[in-house]
Amino acid sequence: MTFTTIHPGYALLLLSTLLWQCQGSPDTASTMETTPAPSFSSKPYGKTTDGKEVDIYTLKNAKGMELQVITYGGIITSWTAPDQDGNYGNVVLGYDKLEQYEASNPYFGALIGRYGNRIAKGQFELDGTTWQLETNDGPNHLHGGTRGFDKVVWSAEAKTGEQAVELVLRYTSPDGEGGYPGTLNTEVVYSLNNEDELVVTYSATTDKKTVVNLTQHSYFNLSGDFTRNVQDHLLEIAADAYLPVDETLIPVGQLASVEGTPFDFRSAKPIGQDLEVEDEQLARGKGYDHCWALNNPGTYRKAAAVAHPGSGRLLEIFTDEPGIQFYGGNFLDGTLPMPGGGTYAHRTGFCLETQHYPDSPNQPAFPSVVLEPGQTYRSKTSFKFSTKTNSL
Ligand code: BGC
Repeated sequence: MTFTTIHPGYALLLLSTLLWQCQGSPDTASTMETTPAPSFSSKPYGKTTDGKEVDIYTLKNAKGMELQVITYGGIITSWTAPDQDGNYGNVVLGYDKLEQYEASNPYFGALIGRYGNRIAKGQFELDGTTWQLETNDGPNHLHGGTRGFDKVVWSAEAKTGEQAVELVLRYTSPDGEGGYPGTLNTEVVYSLNNEDELVVTYSATTDKKTVVNLTQHSYFNLSGDFTRNVQDHLLEIAADAYLPVDETLIPVGQLASVEGTPFDFRSAKPIGQDLEVEDEQLARGKGYDHCWALNNPGTYRKAAAVAHPGSGRLLEIFTDEPGIQFYGGNFLDGTLPMPGGGTYAHRTGFCLETQHYPDSPNQPAFPSVVLEPGQTYRSKTSFKFSTKTNSL
């Protein structure tokens, strides 16, 4: 054992400091109580019909925002955000049982892969070879097929730091799965920081030339009351152009200016404002179900913002992706069960899915979605909550 000699004056100072700390000043005590660290917990959630164990993780930031994620589909099952009075409420649509997610999920909260959105006729060509994917949306392929990344069990690892808590999800998709070439090693990180922001980072590598377009498919309703539709939410999308589609929702190829159309969200307007306007494109989507070509491609920038006037909740979305699909919940039809009773009615949630453009593998003028061996696919999107009492 070693002793260190302490100067008597210094010892006295040390002693008085210790005594002061034990008594505690009101300031110190309250600071210590009000700054909890980000944390996580996990527990079993259930077993899939083919016997795989699924866990649920709860991530909590220092302010109290809580995100729940299940390892099945990397699905965000609930996500609380404060309103203008500081009351936390769940703002994403979901179910309360694994069986429901397995039986009939319109991609509530899920990770989407290998290809988010549509590929015409489920076909594409790479170096002279034609690849045929499943056609699960009329004549087209949608969101990776009937067993896409939303329906596989991901491995999970949670970590905490002072500023954020994160969940790392990993899935290796075997060569040929869903009809896609190459073994795809995929990693998605959900990082919830103390700024009430969820940063989602995606990365993937392949052993054969392939196509990739990953996204997150949460349905938001910022009112926190899922018996209300989202028509009163104010939406802003930072895009001068969008991608008009054919009858099967495949982009026709050219971008169209949003100017003078119901697709102009450059200044915030209620989602429902132009929904009844006679417009061929709106009719094709049964409402909004289109991809916007975001301004300033190639940079990480604000893509969209949504405010709910009643609660004061504001959601801002940042991304480095070239596009964002705004889907207004047009296919919710009152048949899917809501936790606690009732069903999800028409347009009770909206999705803002950051991604490359739909059907890119067949449209050479669109930014490429091709991934080659030796390259790493990377994509980053964040969802930031705050409150704003006036309009957007
Ligand atoms: C698509 C919609 C589709 C929905 C399924 C969206 O990403 O754009 O057409 O119906 O996902 O929930």
